[in-house]
Amino acid sequence: MRCYEEGAQLVLSNAPVALRMGEINKLAEAVKAPVVAADVTNMDDLKKLFEESMKHFGGGIDFILHSIGMGLNVRKGKKYTELDYGFNQKTLDISAMSLHRVLRTAWDMDAINEAGSVVSLTYIAAQRVFPDYSEMADAKALLESITRSFGYHYGLRKKVRVNTVSQSPTRTTAGGGIKGFDGFIAFAEKLSPLGNATGDECADYCVTLFSDLTKMVTMQNLFHDGGFSSTGITEEVIKQMEK
Ligand SMILES: NC(=O)c1ccc[n+]([C@@H]2O[C@H](COP(=O)([O-])OP(=O)(O)OC[C@H]3O[C@@H](n4cnc5c(N)ncnc54)[C@H](O)[C@@H]3O)[C@@H](O)[C@H]2O)c1
Repeated sequence: MRCYEEGAQLVLSNAPVALRMGEINKLAEAVKAPVVAADVTNMDDLKKLFEESMKHFGGGIDFILHSIGMGLNVRKGKKYTELDYGFNQKTLDISAMSLHRVLRTAWDMDAINEAGSVVSLTYIAAQRVFPDYSEMADAKALLESITRSFGYHYGLRKKVRVNTVSQSPTRTTAGGGIKGFDGFIAFAEKLSPLGNATGDECADYCVTLFSDLTKMVTMQNLFHDGGFSSTGITEEVIKQMEK
């Protein structure tokens, strides 16, 4: 929505099964965007998504937001010490390798314009342990690594930037699925000098990363978390502990 407000033309996508349940059609109407179904683990779907997007734009793509995550073991209630490796492979494929798949498809089709920008959403569990985030922590670490590795190649080839935004915990479908999420959101709020960043504020930040004003920023993990990642303790948390 924020990109549309700034004048962008958009194509929206989600997995075919999610399209049937989601609110995406309302958003599509509001931002005058076509919706193209694509399972991000399927290379044929991705090729079709890029073909249809380029047809819609009448040319190349300026920016891509990768906002995809799915922890199958988390969903099935399997603890980190009891991972099912079949589920785990799917988790890594959907949540991390999918960024490689998207970039690789764009690379093969030369779909992204010179100095384009790709942003993916991640979480600080890639750097520090948040036990209930479980296998998703490993998925995010891989996602951030692919951001650097592919960012190197795409930067050299076409000055395309690839970055991750590490967002505060936010109440969404995925966020809500994590055990003890409400208490955790309240804790993060108290440990962040600016408070938790909202989803809308995350969208604002992504717009800056899609703009030409950040054209020299690439291969970075950028914390958008109200200062949480740099804070050891706050007076509010100490007060809470003394109660
Ligand atoms: N909510 C939070 O607290 C939080 C914090 C930091 C980062 N993030 C990240 O933000 C991103 C968006 O998550 P969200 O919180 O909006 O949750 P969400 O569940 O609404 O978004 C995840 C999306 O991934 C899609 N998806 C799953 N499997 C797919 C597949 N095979 N092909 C295509 N799409 C598929 C889902 O349909 C869903 O729309 C994720 O990468 C998440 O890890 C979320």
